[in-house]
Amino acid sequence: MPKIRETLNLCFACGPANRDGLRLKFSYTPNRHFVKSVVRLEKRFQGATGFAHGGIIATLLDEAMAKSNGLGGTRAVTLRLDARYRKMVPIKRELHLTGWRTSKRGRKLYLRAELHDAHGNLLCEGRGLFLIVK
Ligand SMILES: CC(C)(COP(=O)(O)OP(=O)(O)OC[C@H]1O[C@@H](n2cnc3c(N)ncnc32)[C@H](O)[C@@H]1OP(=O)(O)O)[C@@H](O)C(=O)NCCC(=O)NCCS
Repeated sequence: MPKIRETLNLCFACGPANRDGLRLKFSYTPNRHFVKSVVRLEKRFQGATGFAHGGIIATLLDEAMAKSNGLGGTRAVTLRLDARYRKMVPIKRELHLTGWRTSKRGRKLYLRAELHDAHGNLLCEGRGLFLIVK
C-alpha cells in the first residue's frame, strides 16, 4: 500500500486532491469564527428527487462548521449534527454556505451552519457539537 503524503488533502468535502469530492473552498473571518463558501453541486450529488441528496447537504453543513474552527487550525471532530431541511436544494445553482461558532466550553465547540440560495432563501440549517482532539 503506497504511503499518502501528509500534505495531500483527500478530504471528501474540502480536499483539492479528491477528484470525486466536493472540493469546497472557504473564506474565514477569525475574530468571528465565521466561514463562507459559494457552492454549486454537480449532478452526481443529487438524490432520487433530482434535488441535492440529504446526506450531501449534511456534509456541507458539517464542513462549514468544521472550518469555522479555524480552517483546520483547531483539530476537532463531529460528535453531533442536527440538520433542518427547509427547502429542496437545487443542483447546479449557486448556493451560499456559512458556518460559525456560537460557544466553546472546554473541549466542546458549539457550532451552526446555514445553506441559502442566491436569493437569500434559507434551504437548510444545522447545529453541531464538535470535540477538540489531539
Ligand atoms: C472523539 C472521541 C475520540 C472521544 O474522545 P474522548 O476524548 O475519549 O472523549 P470522551 O468520550 O471523554 O467525551 C468527551 C466529552 O464529550 C461528550 N460526548 C462524547 N460523545 C458525544 C456525543 N456523541 N454527543 C454528545 N456528547 C458527547 C462526553 O460525554 C464528554 O463530556 P463531558 O466532558 O462533559 O463528560 C470519540 O467520541 C470518537 O472517535 N467519535 C467519533 C467522531 C467522528 O468520527 N466524527 C465524524 C468525523 S469528524
